[in-house]
Amino acid sequence: MPKSMEQIVALCKRRGFIFQNSDIYGGQQGFWDYGPLGTELKRNVRNAWYNTMITQHDELFVPEGAPSAFQMVGIETSIIMNPKVWKASGHYDLFHDFMVDCKSCKSRFRVDHITTRVVLDAATNAPVACETYMKDVENDTGLSKAQQKRLDKATKEYGKPTIEETMPLDSYMKLAGDQQSPPVAQCPDCRGELTDPREFNLMFKTIVGALAGEESTAFLRPETAQGMFVNFKNVVDSSRVKLPFGIAQIGKSFRNEITPRNFIFRSREFEQMEMEFFCRPEESFQWYKYWRDRRFKWYSDLGINPDNLILRDHTEDELSHYSVGTADVEYSYPFMEEGEYGELEGIAHRGDFDLRSHMEGKLVREGNELVVEKDEHGQPRHRGSGKDLTYFDDQTRERFVPHVIEPAAGADRATLAFICEAYTEDEQPDDKGSMQKRTVMKFHPLLAPIKAAVFPLIKKDGMLEKGADLYRQLKRAGIASTYAHQGAIGRRYRQQDEIGTPYCITVDGDTLEDGTVTIRDRDSLQQERVHVDKVVETIRCKLDE
Ligand code: GAP
Repeated sequence: MPKSMEQIVALCKRRGFIFQNSDIYGGQQGFWDYGPLGTELKRNVRNAWYNTMITQHDELFVPEGAPSAFQMVGIETSIIMNPKVWKASGHYDLFHDFMVDCKSCKSRFRVDHITTRVVLDAATNAPVACETYMKDVENDTGLSKAQQKRLDKATKEYGKPTIEETMPLDSYMKLAGDQQSPPVAQCPDCRGELTDPREFNLMFKTIVGALAGEESTAFLRPETAQGMFVNFKNVVDSSRVKLPFGIAQIGKSFRNEITPRNFIFRSREFEQMEMEFFCRPEESFQWYKYWRDRRFKWYSDLGINPDNLILRDHTEDELSHYSVGTADVEYSYPFMEEGEYGELEGIAHRGDFDLRSHMEGKLVREGNELVVEKDEHGQPRHRGSGKDLTYFDDQTRERFVPHVIEPAAGADRATLAFICEAYTEDEQPDDKGSMQKRTVMKFHPLLAPIKAAVFPLIKKDGMLEKGADLYRQLKRAGIASTYAHQGAIGRRYRQQDEIGTPYCITVDGDTLEDGTVTIRDRDSLQQERVHVDKVVETIRCKLDE
């Protein structure tokens, strides 16, 4: 049976992974709280990312597929930055989405692509009918009945099936200009007519200091990346890093999303795990390829079936003005249509756009060049810092602006993908041998919120004390563990299966005789007997496998 978002959301609430924020007051749309197990799970996701990026990174070793060895450092920057940062970076002018409202039911939708369907004449191949509609990954406004009727009529008359082309809405709006009326489409909820698309800046505004006014307006960061760019010089001057090197950080970002939807997939407050990799321009495409492949592998190494993942290169139309190449790691979330995928992480080749923007001012593309945007007086529209953010290579004696490769992941989206992937329903024999339905979260052991559960079989004969002692040994060894002595053993197993605990350890009659306990594997259900003194070591080895 395919898993549905309803099953996932229900399990997350029931078992304390994720709750609606301000639940007792009816919630706050686009904001979520992590419960006790969700907090552990997300912490494990963050740690897995930070460990591979920074803590366990070996700067003396050339990883497979990398052009050379490289350095990696961490950073932690503020959520609120000088507003000039967002003006130079382009977010102040350009960080928008398009929204449409339904004229009948007043639902609001975010749209980012426009699909055009064209009917061709079978004889001449000339277009004879054309209809457009709007969509994004979560909404598909579809064709209205009238549009569909017109296409069907043309197809019948001219005898050739429709062809379909999809392009980003802002490219379409630029192309269409004032010449063409915006697309008519229908509301996916009630089939009513939608308004024209309107732009909406996604940055949350706030006031710094006591006085409200233009001067004191600041923004909650919509990405963590700018914290790395504006500290590039500080890091180079203080850390003795040499190109190529990466600066990474994990932190909260905020976007006033028009339609926060699909659980934690698109929320207004979320956490990013971003890394800016600075390199020599001539090596940048090799590094882009390296990070694209390495980031894809991270998800499959942590248990996501590669059949449910794709690495999709952006088309020319989709590329941001600063990017010379972007690929998305995408996952087939349960709310997607069959064969469709949603973004987990983007890996972008950003060229020298960011460092130049913070030196020179907001850049715009003119042909193949990025140039400082000018106002009507010929002055930079938004000035940069004016600080020198070039890099001096003391080996080659060259000075240049490094290029940047950016793998930008979402901690919440990754957590959601790991939850969706782990969710499994199967049938297993109960204590009496009859088959019972089981919900089991097959998390990679590294990500599982709890690694081991200790169960004394019965409350007699010192089993409780032996169990409690083992539980304490596991905790002292830093292995997240739990202890339960009540209820039938089968029920205790099922409770742990539902939260994804990979190993259940049972203290039973044999423990009292020979000092061994059983370790049950969540996925294979195999049980092995291990001496109590070897349990911590055995669990640790299993977690390291
Ligand atoms: N610095 C580049 C950048 O921020 P992005 O594609 O806008 O790129 C990177 O964001 C990642 O952050 C996305 O791939 C996604 O995982 C996560 N993300 C972005 N917006 C989000 C939202 N509203 N809710 C949850 N995660 C989001």
